[in-house]
Amino acid sequence: MKILILNGPNLNLLGTREKAIYGSESFDQYFDELKLLFPDSILEYFQSNIEGEIINKIHEVRMSCDGIVLNAAAYTHTSIAIRDAISAIDIPVIEVHISNVHQRESFRHTSLISASCIGVIAGFGLDSYRLGVEALMKI
Ligand code: DQA
Repeated sequence: MKILILNGPNLNLLGTREKAIYGSESFDQYFDELKLLFPDSILEYFQSNIEGEIINKIHEVRMSCDGIVLNAAAYTHTSIAIRDAISAIDIPVIEVHISNVHQRESFRHTSLISASCIGVIAGFGLDSYRLGVEALMKI
């Protein structure tokens, strides 16, 4: 299987950003560990702070990947455009969050993208991504 891990805004700062919430490991470090867990799959990674680039990436991989593990970060709570991009493609998308967004501020309780995704995984730290990949593999 070929799977894209797609990260949204501010997730390039993982490891230094709000460590009490997001931990002290960079995503690059974690991604190396994640790839080792799935030696028979191709995992690709893309991060952008720009909404349109995230949408372009979703369009780009719709024919070349088998699924997307998406942490849209703050765009989760605001982006109808990302929701529409997910709805526009045929490959499955799993929504993931590092933190348990439901234990946090009320504006994080609403996801505009969940309804377009196969399912949602939140609150398991970086392990949320592994769970997302495993969920995709079982579809
Ligand atoms: C996040 C949760 C979002 O509310 C926040 O804006 C993020 C990260 C998470 O992974 O916990 O940037 O998606």
